[in-house]
Amino acid sequence: MPLLSELKGRSLVEPDDLSLDEMESLFTLAEKIEKKEGHLKESCRGKLLASLFFEPSTRTRLSFEAAMLRLGGSCLGFAEPGSSSAAKGESLADTIRMAASYADVIVMRNPKEGSALLAARYSSVPVVNAGDGGHHHPTQTLTDLLTIKRLLGNIGNITVGFCGDLKFGRTVHSLSKALSRYKNIKMLFISPKELMLPEYIKSFLIKNNIEFEERENLEKSMPELDVLYMTRVQRERFFNEDDYIRLKDTYVLNTEKMAYGREKLVVLHPLPRVNEISVEVDSDPRAAYFSQAKYGMYVRMALLASILGAAC
Ligand code: CP
Repeated sequence: MPLLSELKGRSLVEPDDLSLDEMESLFTLAEKIEKKEGHLKESCRGKLLASLFFEPSTRTRLSFEAAMLRLGGSCLGFAEPGSSSAAKGESLADTIRMAASYADVIVMRNPKEGSALLAARYSSVPVVNAGDGGHHHPTQTLTDLLTIKRLLGNIGNITVGFCGDLKFGRTVHSLSKALSRYKNIKMLFISPKELMLPEYIKSFLIKNNIEFEERENLEKSMPELDVLYMTRVQRERFFNEDDYIRLKDTYVLNTEKMAYGREKLVVLHPLPRVNEISVEVDSDPRAAYFSQAKYGMYVRMALLASILGAAC
């Protein structure tokens, strides 16, 4: 795939680092990997991935490591900063310099906004942002877009509702910006006033003439949606525990609310969920969040193979 060869050696800090055509090529490759067992199986043999997780993760870390192992490569790294020399006061720049001298690609999650950009600047190997504070999570965006494409057949001409913590939810920030690059997208942002979308994302949408509305009522919005993107209230980003407790159960998607949704609605959630989707919804055929997490592994395989110059 000629376009993917252009990703060789490049970092991914935010979704805008990829052109629309590059994203589409990654989705095509991810679908090929999913459907053709063993595709690219040994393509990254001899390559090393450093996974540096300064914050907890289940899906992102494990799916990146699974992706690298399935491509024939190997992984090293840490799952929490207490086991690294960051606990002794080592700077991020120095940690990155070290990891870059041991590995061929770095995947990093860090609580500080902007840390991924800093890491990319100090690294001699490509850096993939696995979430920088409340800022961006570009590979979750690739996961979300691939899931929409696979389940609805296309990404344009849809209404997407984002519900929950839109202030701190980095997956919402990344996905809303990326969706704005597709044709005829309408977005409904459903949140309590305290957790509304940040002004910089709204300014971006306005500047790009994207149709969007901010609302507080989920039930009334349900019949309009092709995709509902539920999110967790991000406890770790609150300054005040009382505010978190007051807001955490503002929205709970249950079977009663699902009854207002369309027959072909796709319910996504980047996960982990806490209370915002009742477990009874899991058996609804419109609940797609576990398939979404699996698509994440395929698209990360496509991305790693491309960055490492092994995609074909
Ligand atoms: N979606 C996501 O980022 O999940 P983890 O925090 O488990 O990696």
